[in-house]
Amino acid sequence: MMSNENGFEHIGVIGLGTMGKGIVLAIAQAGYHVTAVDRDQPLVDRGLESIKKSIQRMCEKGALEGQERDHIISNINGLTDLSSLTKCDLIIEAAFEDLKIKRGLFREMDKSCPAETLFASNTSSLSITQLASGLSRPDKVIGMHFFNPVPVMRLVEVIKTVTTSLETIKRIIKFVRSLKKEPIVVRDQAGFLVNYLLTPFLFDAVRALNGGLGTVEEIDKGMRYGCGHPMGPLALCDLIGLDILINAGNTLFDEHRENRYAPPPLLRRLVELGDLGVKSGRGFYSYQDPNKPTPRSL
Ligand code: CAA
Repeated sequence: MMSNENGFEHIGVIGLGTMGKGIVLAIAQAGYHVTAVDRDQPLVDRGLESIKKSIQRMCEKGALEGQERDHIISNINGLTDLSSLTKCDLIIEAAFEDLKIKRGLFREMDKSCPAETLFASNTSSLSITQLASGLSRPDKVIGMHFFNPVPVMRLVEVIKTVTTSLETIKRIIKFVRSLKKEPIVVRDQAGFLVNYLLTPFLFDAVRALNGGLGTVEEIDKGMRYGCGHPMGPLALCDLIGLDILINAGNTLFDEHRENRYAPPPLLRRLVELGDLGVKSGRGFYSYQDPNKPTPRSL
């Protein structure tokens, strides 16, 4: 069992969606025991299956050996019962991006976990302060914002509220480094730092498309070949999820009241159609053949 200077051995993760799965894998790879919890058994089974596939792909690429694979898999436990997290030193919440759901989870955990357990949220846009309010441990609540795809992206934004203690911040920084990721500590404001900068840029790409400045392909080519971005902004919208982006935009707009944060109508229309990006098979691109996304004419 891992036991290092941050004092964490056993980590809990709530939610096995896109982000939760990546977070579980990154933590198990670093040698910690992880208990992952989701609402029902099919969701847990699907999440664990997908994590095992990622581990298998790493083996096929030669990035992992058989013994390491078995060790990582043995570090992960998938369950449906929140009470199984009470033995964890740190609980990272990566549930659906909804304030009511997240607050409910934190309140339940607050009642059942020992006073020293730290609580972190992977929210991309909700206020950590709001999640901490009313809990018995506001000094032990913090944001840990991972980026998609978690196994590849090295940044974790560590979000401190006015009540987060210095000790909590220091332990989380050490923990992030133990995952071989880079932390930046930012204040609790809508969008934190990265989404505060990224969201208006992505919305501008959607507005450029809607205004006929270029096609999906041209806009993405422009930023990839002209500015060296690893992927174009519209492909990135699809990767993040158009529904997630609308949530992020709404939160940013509510806080800053600037038009550049208002989700563009075309984005809203796509979400109304159920076109959420890669996860639903269609967004600005069609992913019928996942290896060959086709730009749509919108
Ligand atoms: N899981 C695991 N590994 C993955 C992966 C995934 N989902 N996607 C890609 N990879 C790995 C590949 O296996 C490959 O690894 P090797 O080099 O060891 O073979 C490597 O990443 C590169 O992948 P590809 O060759 O397939 O493709 P690429 O070079 O175009 O890279 C990318 C893909 C890493 C996604 C790259 O395009 C990229 O960095 N894009 C930008 C992503 C980004 O900006 N993310 C932040 C989104 S914002 C956010 O998440 C916050 C929020 O709150 C909304």
